[in-house]
Amino acid sequence: MSDDRIDDDLPPHDPGATFATFATTPSTHPPRILILYGSLREKSFSRYLGEECGRVLTRFGAEVRTFDPRGLPVFDRSSFDLPKVRELRGLTEWSEAHVWVSPEQHGSMTAAFKNQIDWIPLTDGAVRPTQGRTLAVLQVSGGSQSFNAVNQLRVLGRWMRMYTIPNQSSVPKAFEQFDASGRMKPSSFRDRVVDVMEELFRFTLLLRDNVEILNTRYSEEKERRTHGALKPALGVAPK
Ligand SMILES: Cc1cc2nc3c(=O)[nH]c(=O)nc-3n(C[C@H](O)[C@H](O)[C@H](O)COP(=O)(O)O)c2cc1C
Repeated sequence: MSDDRIDDDLPPHDPGATFATFATTPSTHPPRILILYGSLREKSFSRYLGEECGRVLTRFGAEVRTFDPRGLPVFDRSSFDLPKVRELRGLTEWSEAHVWVSPEQHGSMTAAFKNQIDWIPLTDGAVRPTQGRTLAVLQVSGGSQSFNAVNQLRVLGRWMRMYTIPNQSSVPKAFEQFDASGRMKPSSFRDRVVDVMEELFRFTLLLRDNVEILNTRYSEEKERRTHGALKPALGVAPK
């Protein structure tokens, strides 16, 4: 026989009362958006695509910063004090949304892309540098259109507790899509990129003031009540 007392500590969720906990006065500062791309080479189409996203978002009114992954060491769980590692962690703490652009290599995201995410801890003391951020995922390919990298980026976004928007972009034969200065040529692919950035911008405005409420978890509150704190997560920088 089941014991209904297990439900005694469930928080109340009267729809009206729960809705009333959401922010009513929206923030007005420009959405803070971090762009990550996954290539170290000089002429990089994933960087060009990231920069194109940045230009579009800036036109929409966002404040955009892009992380240059060159010089970031391979994740070793110990070099937390290196300037590039600190820069990446600082940028993600600053951000309210991310744009992730990875090339597809051997049917997957690049090591250069994954390495950046590996350096970002899920929790760092009370700070959760990615949790609750909105996320747009994009990929570039040398071949025909495929979705292997964006599918993996979605899984990674879930792992980092981010809100990945439904729309996404996959740019095939990327070497044909950019001009000599790195600007994306007009095409249905570019229109799609604008669609994705528009969606990211709107979702960020919708969610950013309510991240704390949306991220409160019953199981974690219970753990805090029982143990006084959450158990430390893996990948946390030593203090
Ligand atoms: C080792 C290697 C593997 C690749 N594998 C794929 C692949 O599986 N599918 C594909 O469409 N393109 C593949 N490409 C092409 C890259 O996606 C393409 O060159 C892309 O522009 C690289 O990103 P970047 O310009 O930002 O450096 C591969 C390229 C390299 C060097």
